[in-house]
Amino acid sequence: MPGMLLLLLLTTALLSSCVQLLAGAHSWWSLAMNPVQRPELFIIGAQPVCSQLPGLSPGQRKLCQLYQEHMAYIGEGAKMGIKECQYQFRQRRWNCSTVDNASVFGRVMQIGSRETAFTYAVSAAGVVNAISRACREGELSTCGCSRTARPKDLPRDWLWGGCGDNVDYGYRFAKEFVDAREREKNFAKGSEEQGRVLMNLQNNEAGRRAVYKMADVACKCHGVSGSCSLKTCWLQLAEFRKVGDQLKEKYDSAAAMRITRRGRLELVNSRFNPPTPEDLVYVEPSPDYCRRNETTGSLGTQGRLCNKTSDGMDGCELMCCGRGYDQFKSVQVERCHCKFHWCCFVKCKKCTEIIDQKKNQDSGEPTSAPQPPLSR
Ligand SMILES: *[C@@H]1O[C@H](CO)[C@@H](O)[C@H](O)[C@H]1NC(C)=O
Ligand SMILES: *[C@@H]1O[C@H](CO)[C@@H](O)[C@H](O)[C@H]1NC(C)=O
Ligand SMILES: *[C@@H]1O[C@H](CO)[C@@H](O)[C@H](O)[C@H]1NC(C)=O
Ligand SMILES: *[C@@H]1O[C@H](CO)[C@@H](O)[C@H](O)[C@H]1NC(C)=O
Repeated sequence: MPGMLLLLLLTTALLSSCVQLLAGAHSWWSLAMNPVQRPELFIIGAQPVCSQLPGLSPGQRKLCQLYQEHMAYIGEGAKMGIKECQYQFRQRRWNCSTVDNASVFGRVMQIGSRETAFTYAVSAAGVVNAISRACREGELSTCGCSRTARPKDLPRDWLWGGCGDNVDYGYRFAKEFVDAREREKNFAKGSEEQGRVLMNLQNNEAGRRAVYKMADVACKCHGVSGSCSLKTCWLQLAEFRKVGDQLKEKYDSAAAMRITRRGRLELVNSRFNPPTPEDLVYVEPSPDYCRRNETTGSLGTQGRLCNKTSDGMDGCELMCCGRGYDQFKSVQVERCHCKFHWCCFVKCKKCTEIIDQKKNQDSGEPTSAPQPPLSR
């Protein structure tokens, strides 16, 4: 009998640790993967929709019930953030690749690294962007056009009154929703886990602020054919690419922090300026993104394409981590020598071009690439 009891205790202990792990891996980011149904398909007050969405924390689930029509835009925002992350990191060892729809980025996000910081910021930014725009387009019942006051420096005869992106609402809603998951955790003051919560909150805020601050006045001319005697202006979101560029700069200058015993983040190197709310922070060094590692969740760079003439992160030396690379030729078929025939079609020949490409060796294992490895 005591043996039975011990076994039971053991299994419960094991089970709970698995659940913990999964909970860490799941996130509202998965809304980007499982497209949320169109808002008109939601039945007001229908609970099942929110309980079926994966990755929501208890607080986020409550917000989902209250603001069901927002969920599709949160998913859209997350997707936009992930796409931007993949663009900004396309030439780097860690390329922001998503793993599956459940854990989205995989285990690497459990490490409080610079890359994790960027991912939190850019996805929070995506949510502000998507919600602000949805308000403007009249898609949400709780918000409409921006109510930002007329800028003082706007010329007097220009009208202020076009329907603008509602960044105030977008900012507030994103803060409520995205931060909910961090705010409901209750870790011991000064613990590493609390440090991670503070890191996430700071980076979420930096992402939201980037969208908020970069929104600017846009105007349109009216008046007799091109005279532009009358202008109407409104508040408009910046292109999301610009937000991504800005956050990438913040990534490059991100501040290394540690948690103090009193439960605050402080600079590891006190000679640097303390971060402002617009800056990114991290609490752990990045894992090795060169080699595949199940523990850290790193996918490694084997098989990635590299650029032989580049000195940057996409250069073969850096991308392949000094392991050498395979050279192979790929064939590209294009339309060429096109001629216009009267009337009205274009006739082309098919041309094939052979392109030299270099690819990181599959680490150690016999390579399946057609050409033997080149230099080391
Ligand atoms: C991902 O989502 C698809 C469809 O939504 C589902 O069929 C598949 O099982 C999911 N994969 C994982 C790993 O959760
Ligand atoms: C994987 O990463 C962990 C943590 O950095 C390290 O201790 C371990 O040696 C790595 N494993 C391999 C196979 O590289
Ligand atoms: C990103 O990196 C992973 C792992 O190295 C690779 O499998 C994937 O194809 C890469 N994605 C892009 C878009 O290059
Ligand atoms: C490779 O790098 C060189 C130098 O930075 C650049 O001019 C070239 O466009 C790159 N090629 C590709 C295919 O990205």
